[in-house]
Amino acid sequence: MEIIGDVTLWEFRGNALHLTTSHANMRIAQYNVSTFRVQACKTGETFQETSYACPEMPASQEMRLTDLGGKLVAETSFLRLIIQKKPFRLRFETLAGDVLSEDDPGLGIIWEDREVTNYKTLQPGERFFGLGEKTGPLDRAGKQYRNWNTDAYAYGQNTDPLYVSCPFYMGMSHGNMYGIFLHNHWETVFNFGAANDRFSFFQAKGGQLDYFFFGGPKPADILRDYTALTGRIKLPPMWSLGFQQCRYSYYPDTEVLRVAQTFREKNIPADVIYLDIHYMQDYKVFTWHDEKFPDPESLIEKLKALNFKVVVILDPGVKIEKDYPVYEEGLARDVFVKYPDGKPYSGAAWPGWCHFPDFTDAAVRLWWGDHVAGLVKQGVNGFWNDMNEPAVWGHHTPNLVGFALEGKTGTHKEAHNIYGMQMSRATKEGAEKVLDGERTFILTRATFSGGQRDSAVWTGDNHATDEHLMLGARLVNSLGLSGFPFTGNDVGGFTGDAARGLYRRWIAHAAFHPLMRAHSMINSRQAEPWSFGEEDLEVARNYISLRYQLLPHLYSLLFEATQNGIPPVRSLLFYYHDEWKIFTEAFENQFLLGQHLMICPVESDAKLARVYLPEGEWYQFLNDATQTGPAEHLTEIQRDTIPIYVKAGAILPLQNTIHHVDEPNDGLLRLHLYFGAEGSYTLYEDDGHTRANESNAFAKRRIDLKADTVHMSGVEGDYKSRFTKVRFYLHGASFSKGNSGGQGIEILKEDFRFLNAISNFDPYEDYPDTAKVVVGLGYLELPLSGNPLTVQLS
Ligand code: GLC
Repeated sequence: MEIIGDVTLWEFRGNALHLTTSHANMRIAQYNVSTFRVQACKTGETFQETSYACPEMPASQEMRLTDLGGKLVAETSFLRLIIQKKPFRLRFETLAGDVLSEDDPGLGIIWEDREVTNYKTLQPGERFFGLGEKTGPLDRAGKQYRNWNTDAYAYGQNTDPLYVSCPFYMGMSHGNMYGIFLHNHWETVFNFGAANDRFSFFQAKGGQLDYFFFGGPKPADILRDYTALTGRIKLPPMWSLGFQQCRYSYYPDTEVLRVAQTFREKNIPADVIYLDIHYMQDYKVFTWHDEKFPDPESLIEKLKALNFKVVVILDPGVKIEKDYPVYEEGLARDVFVKYPDGKPYSGAAWPGWCHFPDFTDAAVRLWWGDHVAGLVKQGVNGFWNDMNEPAVWGHHTPNLVGFALEGKTGTHKEAHNIYGMQMSRATKEGAEKVLDGERTFILTRATFSGGQRDSAVWTGDNHATDEHLMLGARLVNSLGLSGFPFTGNDVGGFTGDAARGLYRRWIAHAAFHPLMRAHSMINSRQAEPWSFGEEDLEVARNYISLRYQLLPHLYSLLFEATQNGIPPVRSLLFYYHDEWKIFTEAFENQFLLGQHLMICPVESDAKLARVYLPEGEWYQFLNDATQTGPAEHLTEIQRDTIPIYVKAGAILPLQNTIHHVDEPNDGLLRLHLYFGAEGSYTLYEDDGHTRANESNAFAKRRIDLKADTVHMSGVEGDYKSRFTKVRFYLHGASFSKGNSGGQGIEILKEDFRFLNAISNFDPYEDYPDTAKVVVGLGYLELPLSGNPLTVQLS
């Protein structure tokens, strides 16, 4: 065991503070006012410089440091770091002197052989969140977790680890929030006070101690800083936000067409159909089954005519089979991972015995990408990367298998957790090469911190049970808190047969998740929206339609994620971390889609739901009844609804129901305004399928809601909005005469005064019928141009 020891020397090299202790070299750097990096390596070693998680590491900044004899103090305008010299210990605190996180005084940083651990004093009542795809409660205090990407088929409520590793968490101590990202992709362990009352720790089984500290103060600030390092999603194609239907597996080609056709016949909006492993010949990657799918191009054409996009599964294992071109070529090009004696590693997966491409080698990524490009040329629109933990039957890839690691070389122990992420990267890069500026969609099962740049994530092989419906909501919440914005669960449950009522509940919830994909296991009951009877079909159609109406909102939220890393689905922690009730397990499943729209997951047989309304005024989405928080609220639920609330101050942009994203909307932007508090919103549009948005082809406008005015800024960007009219729906507006209990209301034309409407437009003259009346809601309709628009209501 080696303990870090005392600081014997310190100096600046460039902006970074270098410290020498009796056993180690330390490097501390400041990246912005709320981000520090701490690196430690044993004497004689050099600091690791390469990174999969942060390929574009920003430059560090100058640090303001004071030597106070026994300690060094680095202070930004926001955060203080105190470096104790004897022995070396760190303490991060707010400028007011509240501890955010501090090393355990007796333990600090310790090496045991190759394993390095940083022990932090457990603060009174300290809470922990994040770590991505982790089961259990969202508040992780008292628990320990391991990061080792794992094929966790039919995982349980507390199974750990699952498929994704994300060694990044948020802590809350003394009411303040901070974040820590352990920048190490070896197997890692996080203890949040499990089986001890003294410390939390993070530990890496190999590599170096290298972590970033984020000072907060709120989850959104921490995520902004974390994703400034690990990267942000680029806007996915709009079609990937539509409804996606999957099955293990739809075959042959006629069956795929039948499913797609049925969506259209039954008037259920949908955009994507998946091909699972049976589309391949003997599960061989980059092949098509010659009987089941004899003419893939023609199938894809027919699906295209139905406005369906096609996503195919790609597993990493390449079947060992003489004369199979991908295998032969792989051998010839030396793309497979090998044992130290040079023999390729063989592991068994769906195709039988396989070799595995080394995605940590740029040349192999190119090779793989060329094959992906071949599928793109055949018309495939998106790719589903599965089994990329990597999964093998038996679950244990031998640790001595060698990987290139970009020329550095190393073993499976070091490459395991980033394998899936590098496969997604290779897939995306390969597709993009031939897409000519069109966007693609990559969905992955395994990935690592930073993987949000390349792919969406689904939470693997869940179960068709209510427990999994709830767990799924928490997993998406936790992934969002960990920098993954584009996520979802297999709607309806992958394994097992959904009991009556489960599917309809699940689809209602999933309508509000960024990824809405229904998927089910071979030999389980069929799980399309029409497979559960007429009532479920009706519910599914309603919620999928609502999803399509909400696309302008969802897309604007994804745009926000591209800018600051904040996910569309936000756990209550994002806005209400000072309300202790949100940490009650029953309320941890609740989530906000954006800032104001709150979804409260409920089980399929629940007739009553207990929900938590944080501070503020909340409208019930379906009938506009209001309640004031903070409060626990018991609400009755019907079989076809779930509790959804909208907070006063909300601005929700909706469109009419379209049946796929290529169907033009009717040009009318439905802007739902929830009065009672001020609010603002950024509405974002672009063509939804090319990268032209990166060079100004977007339409962005800010909308502000005040007590009696709504203001839309002029449009920023060159894209011509799909909306030519706007209809303001006025929820809870006291100036809506006669608004009592959702009865019919009357809006008199005189009630609207236009301050700065579109130039030369006189609504009274030009649009005598502008102010209209609908039952339960008042709305006002106006033409929409790119100019600023202010409406005052009195
Ligand atoms: C894995 C995937 C599942 C897929 C199946 C067959 O279990 O997680 O989604 O359907 O393999 O490819």
